[in-house]
Amino acid sequence: MPQRKLFVTTALPYANGKFHIGHIMEYIQADIWVRSQRMQGSMVQFVGADDAHGAPIMIAAEKAGKTPQQFVGEIAAGRKQYLDGFHIRFDNWHSTDSPENTELAQAIYRQLKAKGLITTRTIEQFYDPVKGMFLPDRYIKGECPVCHAKDQYGDSCEVCSSVYAPTELIAPYSTLTGARPELRSSDHYFFQLSKPQVVEFLKAWTQDKDADGTGVPRLQPEMAKKAGEWFEAGMADWDISRDAPYFGIEIPDVPGKYFYVWLDAPVGYLASLKNHFDRGQAKDHWHPASRTDATFEQYISDPQVEQVHFIGKDIVYFHTLFWPAMLKFSGRKTPNQVNVHGFITVSGEKMSKSRGTGIDPLKYLSLGMNPEWLRYYIAAKLNARVEDVDFNPDDFVARVNSDLVGKYVNIASRAVKFIAGGKLVAGDLSALNPGRLVESVRQQYESRDYGKALREVMAFADEVNLRFDSAAPWKLVKEGKSEEAARVCSECLEAFKVLTACLKPVLPELAKQAEQFLRCEPLDWDNAARPLGEGHQVGEYKHLMQRVDMKVVDALFEPAVDAIPSPQPSPASGRGREAGVGVGAGAPPPQPSPGGGGSEQPGGEEIGETITIDDFTKIDLRIAKIVECKAVEGSTKLLQLTLDVGEGRHRNVFSGIASAYQPEDLVGKLTVMVANLAPRKMKFGVSEGMVLAASHAEEKQKNGIYVLSPWPGAEPGMRVR
Ligand code: 2FM
Ligand code: ZN
Repeated sequence: MPQRKLFVTTALPYANGKFHIGHIMEYIQADIWVRSQRMQGSMVQFVGADDAHGAPIMIAAEKAGKTPQQFVGEIAAGRKQYLDGFHIRFDNWHSTDSPENTELAQAIYRQLKAKGLITTRTIEQFYDPVKGMFLPDRYIKGECPVCHAKDQYGDSCEVCSSVYAPTELIAPYSTLTGARPELRSSDHYFFQLSKPQVVEFLKAWTQDKDADGTGVPRLQPEMAKKAGEWFEAGMADWDISRDAPYFGIEIPDVPGKYFYVWLDAPVGYLASLKNHFDRGQAKDHWHPASRTDATFEQYISDPQVEQVHFIGKDIVYFHTLFWPAMLKFSGRKTPNQVNVHGFITVSGEKMSKSRGTGIDPLKYLSLGMNPEWLRYYIAAKLNARVEDVDFNPDDFVARVNSDLVGKYVNIASRAVKFIAGGKLVAGDLSALNPGRLVESVRQQYESRDYGKALREVMAFADEVNLRFDSAAPWKLVKEGKSEEAARVCSECLEAFKVLTACLKPVLPELAKQAEQFLRCEPLDWDNAARPLGEGHQVGEYKHLMQRVDMKVVDALFEPAVDAIPSPQPSPASGRGREAGVGVGAGAPPPQPSPGGGGSEQPGGEEIGETITIDDFTKIDLRIAKIVECKAVEGSTKLLQLTLDVGEGRHRNVFSGIASAYQPEDLVGKLTVMVANLAPRKMKFGVSEGMVLAASHAEEKQKNGIYVLSPWPGAEPGMRVR
């Protein structure tokens, strides 16, 4: 059983959003691997960090009225609840916006420069004269030069799929300010990946099948193949600089230039490790097997330390080309394994935040769902290949209930009853060969074939349950053969111990409780198959795991419950909150004019904050036909509309217009609706959009509410722009 020295990381998440289920899946995958390694005595340093830099974060911070540091600091403060909640035990969590990262990124750059691998080139790029900054491609839109579709991104057209340079766009505009961007030139710094020595190195590095003699290849076969295709297409030099204003690390001796975020992001792995060592945490560690007296510099250059990265399939290029080249040519050790996983889909659908699919990890926890259910389900679906993992709610419930509760936990709860005083008697488990199971499962974890490991574990549990059932200890007791019943059940508890060890990387908390029940030492791969033995006293059995109730899973997928409109105008704003029911939703509260008299603002409220065209196009307005309209029982404000937006199905929408219209007046009319508003659960049902209507901010009662209606010719489903 190899006891390895391991430096393990997961991809560093951008510090501009909460964790989604994809992050959690990756962390669970790595955490299981680390826990299994620790069970074989490997010394592991497992670190993460926030990826704090880059233009999107700078812009998001500005929009939020915060400094970038404040902004990323707040995001970082929210990480712990997810990690603790899902039992993900990083040894350290740091940030790429840190002194360690600045020092390391600048050192690496200097070393690459000393090797003659940095060059400068003048490039022409779009510049937003209003914002005073060069625009990354994602902030430029315009008309597609091929099909003339409007509002297409700077690099490709979503309508005709053409790929082009932002300079080819017709009537380009900055999505930040709406201004027409100007072409300006600027000196950029490049890492010369196209140099023969770099290409030669990378070809060998990516194709090396058994880099460290462990039998585990550095890259999965499909990734090595992919890298081969990239070389065939040719390696281009990599633009590593960005001009101020930029939230990042300054390039040494080049005022006003910063490293592109993807240069300093992976350096963040080293920075987090350095921070961990410098704070003395690697010495004084929660897990004894991971303690080390080495300094960061000694540790990171120790040839025995293996560097293992867990990443998703979308960032392979950076981790298998740029990152190893940066390390190699700055005189450092390169990664030993880059383990790539696929994406997580939910019921076969790719996650989409805007459509509200996916699983909100915090909601999962707040519903009281057991984090180990998810750990188990994800593990059961993972293998060592780059395949997507699907979360299917029915399958989730079935697997957890049948495997964990029905097969594993069941063994202990049934067997313990027939062992008098909890004292084990002599038994023989050799026919089941637990030693073989343990070694096989350990190896499957090591090669990240968790699904296979768990299948073997459950097959073993099936055999144990079969033994129990065919021995029928309840009958034996009735027949006066209590000793035989105790023998069979002692064997079952011995088997339960073996199973607990095998499940421990996936279910660390459950394993802890099971260890307490078994009154055994902490389980590892070495002691897993060692019998507790005759005369061993187990503790009192307390139920180890609840079954999943489908209702709670349904609740997990329910759209967020929003405020029901208040029946009375709220005193604070002088009008009711009607978010989601049509009139006035989301508008700022009216600003009373000085002197408190009638409003001098148009419609009783100030014109809203300026938005960009990009902000506006996010709202998908469509022509809708009102096919049905009813009063809502129990509400004086709402009407229930059935709308046809040309989708081949009807939508249900509640609208706060009952004071102004009789239902029959509206049937058959066309109107305009917000078609991409997240569905909202209301007291009377789910509202799937919002109908547009005009009203005076404060004098709705007096002046009325007016539903918008298109000019003749418009048809259901047409977009309003
Ligand atoms: O794709 C991402 O989410 C990046 N923030 C990953 C960075 S991984 C590493 F290089 F830091
Ligand atoms: Zn096009």
